[in-house]
Amino acid sequence: MGPKKKIRRIGVLTGGGDCPGLNAVIRAVTAHSILNHKIEVFGIRDGYSGLINKKLKKLSLEDVSGILPRGGTILGTSNRDNPFKYPADTSEIEKKYIDVSKRVIKTVEYNELDAVITIGGDGTQAIANRLYEECSIPVVGIPKTIDNDLGGTDVTFGFDTALTIATNSIDKIHSTAESHHRIMVIEVMGRYAGWIALHAGIAGGGDVILIPELPFTIEKIGEKINERLSRGKRFSLIVVAEGAKIKGEDVVAARRVSDPNDPLRLGGISTVVGNKIEDLTGIESRYTILGHVQRGGSPTAFDRILATRFGFHSVEAVVRGEFGYMVGLKGKDIKTTPIKEAIAEPRRVKPDSDLIKTARSVGTSFGT
Ligand code: F6P
Repeated sequence: MGPKKKIRRIGVLTGGGDCPGLNAVIRAVTAHSILNHKIEVFGIRDGYSGLINKKLKKLSLEDVSGILPRGGTILGTSNRDNPFKYPADTSEIEKKYIDVSKRVIKTVEYNELDAVITIGGDGTQAIANRLYEECSIPVVGIPKTIDNDLGGTDVTFGFDTALTIATNSIDKIHSTAESHHRIMVIEVMGRYAGWIALHAGIAGGGDVILIPELPFTIEKIGEKINERLSRGKRFSLIVVAEGAKIKGEDVVAARRVSDPNDPLRLGGISTVVGNKIEDLTGIESRYTILGHVQRGGSPTAFDRILATRFGFHSVEAVVRGEFGYMVGLKGKDIKTTPIKEAIAEPRRVKPDSDLIKTARSVGTSFGT
């Protein structure tokens, strides 16, 4: 914990992929700082790019009025601008990456920021932690991601909205599956964690749920579909996480890109599963990739409340001088955890967890 000093100005940034609830946090941070602590708030544009390239804007109560239910982020975001691995301005064909963290220090000093609140997932928080440890920048983190794969919190904001969208989509696809006697494969996001697939699969009544934590076989999925057929059920719903993989095989990527932070764009496992399962069972199959629909639009009430609580408590952590920490939901309370601990390893579904057992108890197969 840093020495307590009077906080006059703070910066706030949103990093990584956008996510429902970001604006609700920005509103809460700004309103609570101005109304209750007389702290000035500066919005940092486009994630760490704003700190590297000095793109800041003072936020007023008016700026954050009406943004609570809006998707996206009024500040803009970026999942490319890592100050410790920043693309050098060079004409060479092969990209070179350099450390520009000194530029971040300069921006913080020039704008007299007493703290920076970093709203983001594991990538954003890993950078925040380095800025804190290596550059002495006073940071407080707020956990955001639809993937729900960050430690230090029971749940990240954005997850509930993504889950609700995915569940509603499964419900819509259910009717076509039933009318046409088809196998419908629904691919959800989540990167290398199966939280969205598991929760939406249970909520939407998926007959098969495929998650990265439990590599599957096509034969086992076929067994489940045939078992349903033997009970007169001529359709099946398969919910698959984008990071799920066939036992012994690699994840399916839509594209490989030259981004050192995230070289794989996941996507397409539903096509593989749909085609293979049609070949195996002879039942017509279709697939739907939900994609960024899960990240857009208005946050659910749960996410708006969680985001507002995170905003309030992050400002309180700043005022207490609790730098290098991240706020999080633990049970019913908001608590802080060192960012270092929160990012130590991704939070993934435990194969022997109660939710997996619950899904199995109603006959759901995981293709294992
Ligand atoms: O981390 C959130 C997330 O939506 C993942 O679920 C997904 O794999 C990834 O971001 C997609 O990122 P992008 O918008 O950069 O394609």
